Amino acid sequence: MNRSVLHSLRKLIFGIFGIFGFLVIGFSLTSCGGETVTKEDETTEAETPEKSSVTVYTHRHYDVDKEIFKDFTEKTGVEVEVLFADASQILERLEQEGEKSPADLVFTVDAKGLVQVKQKDLLQSIESEKLNENIPAKFRDADGYWYGLTYRGRIVVYDKDRVDPTRLSTYQNLTAPEWEDRILVRSSSNVYNRGLLSSMITLYGKEAAQNWAKGLVINMARAPKGNDRAQVRGIAEGVGDLAIINTYYMGLLKFSEDSTERASVENIGVFFPNQDSEGAHINLSMAGVAKHAPNKAGAVALLEYLSTKEVQEKYANANFEYPVNQASEPHELLKSWGDFKTQTITVEEIAEKTNDAVAIFQQANWK
Ligand code: FE2
Repeated sequence: MNRSVLHSLRKLIFGIFGIFGFLVIGFSLTSCGGETVTKEDETTEAETPEKSSVTVYTHRHYDVDKEIFKDFTEKTGVEVEVLFADASQILERLEQEGEKSPADLVFTVDAKGLVQVKQKDLLQSIESEKLNENIPAKFRDADGYWYGLTYRGRIVVYDKDRVDPTRLSTYQNLTAPEWEDRILVRSSSNVYNRGLLSSMITLYGKEAAQNWAKGLVINMARAPKGNDRAQVRGIAEGVGDLAIINTYYMGLLKFSEDSTERASVENIGVFFPNQDSEGAHINLSMAGVAKHAPNKAGAVALLEYLSTKEVQEKYANANFEYPVNQASEPHELLKSWGDFKTQTITVEEIAEKTNDAVAIFQQANWK
């Protein structure tokens, strides 16, 4: 089969799955409640398709990604085709597509997603001096299968009038009687909550994690509903007094174009738990090159581009995430919160404990 036949076949397959992909987009948006990036229309056929575009499967639901991909295209002439889906849907699709998959790069918003893709042998190892230079070893796979791009703290936020921050200390303390009926948190099906509980199983054991989940359910102000932003809104509306959310949502709300969103964080304080012990939980947004990437060179080039100081600062400034590249400056808002201690457990450990976390959430009746 020559190149152009292969390319036509690839386009046909992508076209068929593209329709399915749009259904996936609509379906999975509710899981994170954020903005989506959609697959661009197929552009005119190029002479050398392997070099003309990079296809990205992503669970990152942020406007900034669209802008960064556009910048990359302007700089290199390489188009970026984006398909949004959640991590489990991406995995399923990569498995179905096998060797014919058009995916070059795969992005997830947490550990479990990409580790699982690696375990299913759907990623390939990359050797890149640039990536090794830009991304500290603790944020990338030792064998080059995945690379962390940004990280986000899973922290506690609170109403400044109704909560005395000196009473806050650890995730474990959130089960204390003083917080009864006061805590807002999203559902247990969410990857960020699964990651947090998985980290607690790793650090403190199953039994402690079980007790924590049960205690937290008792202290919930309402049955979990909505995304992280909705928990902040719940505090502003007086439904609860404190919430567990990701750091970047504070920035997205504070600098939102929507005045109601801006107002919702006016009286909200930020607290990083477990600073005197194991550190706060972080979720790493990661990417890896697909095993059957039709454009491996393009995928590596895009990955390297995303790790540069300039692009890392764009992630930080537009989406309020912490850059993994240590040469990059975080946003002023993040700097105003100060440095914080993070858990030192590996993403593999978190991924490994996810099934236990799901079972514990169920036993605890965390909706
Ligand atoms: Fe999110």
